[in-house]
Amino acid sequence: MGGSTAQEVGRRFRDVLGHFPTSVVAITTTGPAGRPEGMVVGSFTSVSLDPPLVSFLADRSSGTLPKITAAGRFCANALAADQEPLSRRLAARGTDRFEDVSWTASAAGNPVLDGVVAWVDCRIEDVVTIGDHDLVVGRVRELRAASAKTPLLFFKGGYGDYFSTTSLLIDQLVGW
Ligand SMILES: Cc1cc2nc3c(=O)[nH]c(=O)nc-3n(C[C@H](O)[C@H](O)[C@H](O)COP(=O)(O)O)c2cc1C
Repeated sequence: MGGSTAQEVGRRFRDVLGHFPTSVVAITTTGPAGRPEGMVVGSFTSVSLDPPLVSFLADRSSGTLPKITAAGRFCANALAADQEPLSRRLAARGTDRFEDVSWTASAAGNPVLDGVVAWVDCRIEDVVTIGDHDLVVGRVRELRAASAKTPLLFFKGGYGDYFSTTSLLIDQLVGW
């Protein structure tokens, strides 16, 4: 990328990385007085089976990140294809993100959003600064596959419901 300006490098980085599809996950927690807090990420992934760890990456400028780390716990909610409006709401700035959003509390008190595909409830195990993001590692405390809906996906800067099963790989993956 020699000869390019920092702006051009940044644009190309965003453009090419946008070609890698991601699932849309709402990270939720509660603040003082049980107020629900949360943000949308495309960076949620499983990390380790033993011990059971998952993670997501949050921009260090995020206003929600310190609320999550202060709580020391979060729930990762995999949004369903019919939840694009919910994703837009939970990624918006300057609004009450949880107004009219239905949820119930996990055993640890994190918001589990109604109608999601699956959710994983965690205690924060570690926070590692990497570049301009913090990697938040969670130890899984409770988890559920909550519905048979298809997932909400994000690809090339847009939302979509592109997933359809073409073959089942799960048998091949056992013992992988
Ligand atoms: C599909 C999608 C994926 C996103 N992925 C991330 C992410 O992985 N990490 C992140 O910090 N923000 C991500 N964002 C942006 C946040 O949702 C949100 O805009 C940001 O947290 C700003 O609000 P905050 O200051 O309250 O955190 C994503 C937004 C969308 C719509």
